[in-house]
Amino acid sequence: MADAAAVQDNLLAQPLRLPNGSVLRNRLAKSAMSEALASYDNHVTPLLPRLYRRWAASGIGLLITGNVMIDRRALGEPGNVALEDESDLPLLRQWAESATAQGAQIWMQLNHPGKQSPKGLNAFNLAPSAIPFGKELAGFFDAPREATPAQIEDIIARFGRAAALARKAGFSGVQIHGAHGYLVSQFLSAHHNQRSDEWGGSAEKRRRFVLAVYAEIRRQTGPDFPIGIKLNSADFQKGGFTEEESMETIRALAQAGIDLVEISGGTYEAPAMTGTTQTQKASTAAREAYFLGFAEKARAAVSTPLMVTGGFRSCAGMNAALRGGALDLVGLGRLLALDPDAPAALLRGADSPYQVRTITTGIKAVDRMALMEVAWYARQLHRIANGKKQNPNESGLWALLGTVAASGWGTFRTRRLRAS
Ligand SMILES: Cc1cc2nc3c(=O)[nH]c(=O)nc-3n(C[C@H](O)[C@H](O)[C@H](O)COP(=O)(O)O)c2cc1C
Repeated sequence: MADAAAVQDNLLAQPLRLPNGSVLRNRLAKSAMSEALASYDNHVTPLLPRLYRRWAASGIGLLITGNVMIDRRALGEPGNVALEDESDLPLLRQWAESATAQGAQIWMQLNHPGKQSPKGLNAFNLAPSAIPFGKELAGFFDAPREATPAQIEDIIARFGRAAALARKAGFSGVQIHGAHGYLVSQFLSAHHNQRSDEWGGSAEKRRRFVLAVYAEIRRQTGPDFPIGIKLNSADFQKGGFTEEESMETIRALAQAGIDLVEISGGTYEAPAMTGTTQTQKASTAAREAYFLGFAEKARAAVSTPLMVTGGFRSCAGMNAALRGGALDLVGLGRLLALDPDAPAALLRGADSPYQVRTITTGIKAVDRMALMEVAWYARQLHRIANGKKQNPNESGLWALLGTVAASGWGTFRTRRLRAS
């Protein structure tokens, strides 16, 4: 137990009032982690409320769900929840209540993968332009088709529809997944978006898609419903989304009325979000969080609440970042996959006994990509959802083999179910 003075000084325990007037009970937020716990026909299962009940019991203020797909023809991986209609409302209500009944807010992260979808899973993939991934990822993802203007309008409407369903089910808010190389971030990138119509050709036109998604969600959910976005500070890719463009996007979204901006960075081609390829400066490592420097600039540019995710590990590191004033919420991913009770310790002023480590398989080409990190930690989520203890010593190679097998089987089952 930490002493009373430490708890009093613990900025993590302070509540946060959001622009819509609702209050988060503290400064700890779970960042989105794809659970892949839906059925293979992409419906919610009872494992999701069970997992979130466990997290909410830890005292955390905000739970952001793993990415929920807005179109079942466009999945990011087997076992994604796809939300298009009211068929899942009873289980969605249980999912929302698993958090809200215990005093936490729960926001649903909404996503469209664009071309970032494993080979064979979808009949075809859409993207702003018909540009395939570079050679490192081309083996994982099929080359996409260029989306027509009508398909773009349909996707925008679907973001709004899914958000309205989330609201109806009792979710406290939604978050647009605008980071990590998925569709919204493909539109923002000059490398991936080489359109010459009104959706591309200049930074302003590339921003139109995310602003249209935000406006449609707002239209379909009403003026008071919290809408956030997870955005890259940059793609860390030659010719990709730059820091300056990210700052302009944040300014435009703030002006449009967004309620929360979560700052991350990188893509699966340059996975800075998990620190996998970033050549970190010593000062960044000392401050734990990978994107704090960018958050400081964003703080100077907008008054919208900011959340920073990536690299936070210790109570002292999180408090130092909050004290610096650049962020309002501390985002946690892998630590919560390893230790769902970590928020209880952090709110007491103590550290989790578990340590996030870099996961390796010994296969260089695999270890350079964030896919391995995600696979290993996702297996921990599955253990927790199934009532098992986490396994911090699981080998990277074993997790890789298990994930490849599960993904292959999941892709086969998804395609079969879709065909039947
Ligand atoms: C298993 C796993 C799944 C993830 N899925 C998502 C996701 O669905 N949406 C998203 O925005 N980020 C996703 N991420 C990235 C995390 O939200 C977070 O940005 C990243 O893990 C860095 O934070 P950390 O250092 O606290 O782990 C995922 C990460 C992991 C480990």
